[in-house]
Order: sequence, then C-alpha cells, then structure tokens
Amino acid sequence: MGFASSCSSTSIILLCSSFPLLLFAYGVPEQTIIRTPSTVSFHEGYTQLFGDKNLILLGDGKTVHISLDERTGAGFASQDLYLYGFFSAAIKLPSEYAAGVVVAFYLSNGDVFEKNHDELDFEFLGNIRGKEWRVQTNLYGNGSTGLGREERYSLWFDPTEDFHHYSILWNRNRIIFYIDSIPIREVVWTEAMGADFPSKPMSLYATIWDGSSWATAGGRYPINYKFSPYVAEFAELVLHGCAVDPIGCLSTCRDEEAGLFNSISITPAQRTAMRDLRRKHMAYSYCYDEERYPSPPPECVADAREAEQFAGAGSGRSGYRRRGHGKRHRKPPAADATF
Ligand SMILES: *[C@@H]1O[C@H](CO)[C@@H](O)[C@H](O)[C@H]1NC(C)=O
Repeated sequence: MGFASSCSSTSIILLCSSFPLLLFAYGVPEQTIIRTPSTVSFHEGYTQLFGDKNLILLGDGKTVHISLDERTGAGFASQDLYLYGFFSAAIKLPSEYAAGVVVAFYLSNGDVFEKNHDELDFEFLGNIRGKEWRVQTNLYGNGSTGLGREERYSLWFDPTEDFHHYSILWNRNRIIFYIDSIPIREVVWTEAMGADFPSKPMSLYATIWDGSSWATAGGRYPINYKFSPYVAEFAELVLHGCAVDPIGCLSTCRDEEAGLFNSISITPAQRTAMRDLRRKHMAYSYCYDEERYPSPPPECVADAREAEQFAGAGSGRSGYRRRGHGKRHRKPPAADATF
C-alpha cells in the first residue's frame, strides 16, 4: 500500500487497511456502511475541545453527554482529520424549553485553514416550549462563507425523546445528509461549483453552545438559563473516513477510499423516500430563496414540486444566518467570562 514516509500514524494504517476488507466482505457494501457501520468509543476517536466538566462519558466512552449552562457549553472533536468518509452519531437533544440552544454535529477544517476552510453541518436549533427543534444543513468550501447553502427541516419525530441517527457521507462526487439512514439532502459535485465543494481534510465536531442572538426566531427568544443545564447525548459514534496528516501528506488511502465511497449513492427507494420527506418537512432551501439568490447557485437542481412549495417564500424565513460563526470551535473566552 505504500504509505508515504511522513504518514506514520498507526491510525492511518488501521483505518485505511480495514476498509476494503470490511466492506467488500458484504454483498452490498455501500448500504452496509450506512446501515450497520462499526462504532468507536470516545477514547478511540475523539478528544475534548472545551467545556471541562460539561463533557461526561458514560458506558465506557460509548456515550458522551455535552451540556450548556451559564458558565460554558462543551464540545469534542475527532483526533484525526479525514479526507472523505461516512460520519454518524445517534443524538438525543435536550428536552424542556431550549430556545437559543444550538447543538452542532459537523465536519470542518476551520482550525487548519483559517481563510479558506471547508465545512459540512448539521445544526439543531432549539425552540420555545411546545415548538419543535429544527434541523439545518449547510456547507462551505474553501472559505465560501459569503454563500450560505442552508436548508432547514422540521422533524417527523421528537428528537428529545429518543436517539436518532444523523449522518454525513462525503466523497469526491457527492455529499449526502441522512437522518435515520434516509437521505434528506444530496449535493452533487458540479464543475461550476468549483472549490465551493469541500475537498480538503476535515475533522468531525460535536458541540453545544449559546446561539441566543440568532437561533430561535432570529434572536427573539434567547436562552433561559433557568432551564439549564441543557444536555445533548451522543452515542453510536461512527468515524468511517480515511485519516490523513494535513501537513505534508495527503491520504495515501485515497484510491481505495475513492472507489469505496464513490460507489455510495442513493438507491431508487431511498430517492423516493428523500423526495417525500423533503416535500413534507423542508421548511427552507437556499435554492428557492430568490431574494437572496436571484439566480440559484450552480449545484441547485430545481424540483418542480419543491419550487412550487417555496414560490415567493424569499428569505423572510429568518434565522438562516449564523452569527458568531467560527467561534464555536473553541472555548469562547470572552463569552465564558460574561456568563
Ligand atoms: C482556495 O482558496 C485559496 C485561498 O483563498 C486560493 O489560493 C485557492 O486558489 C482556492 N482554491 C481553489 C481551487 O479555488
């Protein structure tokens, strides 16, 4: 397999060499990776990012609780950076009044490439009592932060009652966001999209933080710490990517990885399910926001039914903006001090 000499990390060897064996041993490799991926414990794949005692491990590190109180939020990140892969977690969101609370599960390399970072996001936005949490997906490529590609959905279950799986597939050709193994969004690479399609190694992050200024009704309902701590539970952590050394060594697993992950696409049955879910549950899509993008960004593929659904909706659906973006990766010292 000829690993470059600068890639001596054992994790690279383990991760890369186990893929083809694991996956081609099954009849339908691409569905296996999504439906029954192998999980890692916190110690095997992650490290704490911020929040000291607001991160708690349970069940031998198979479950992670991160919480937000008036003192701090909390977060963890993968130990490695990955170039393409399948990333997943079972997440249970805080119940009770959760306006202003943001839970994020995402890939990013903002700490490595400050000016031209890539990012793939699941963001969960809390709400006032009696109103459900909303889920937002987004992506940036090579610092394309001036062009938000947000989509927002309501959920067809109560995400505070049980664990549900949220997953991101990322390969050279496409990005697929899944909820409970059902694709809810697919972004297919197009030449016109260029570097806006994430293409540099990223780490996986999970955080909980104070989004009072924008998360709920554009900031109208800030966090009420009377109901804290807000606890988000993470389990069944999946890191199915090719670990790479960001400096000096690109992934030597790329060829196998590309073959593997590039073979993953959406089955006809999944496509039908995706179309139905989007019709019922998509509340916002940048592709149909004519006020914001008079001509839709190049990767947008207009679906007649969706277009009809959003005709004239504009960006009146407030809250797609994410102020304070970038801060959540780290412990925000100023914010900590003022809480
Ligand atoms: C990505 O961004 C960097 C820095 O802005 C730029 O030099 C580079 O050309 C960009 N890459 C592509 C493929 O556009």
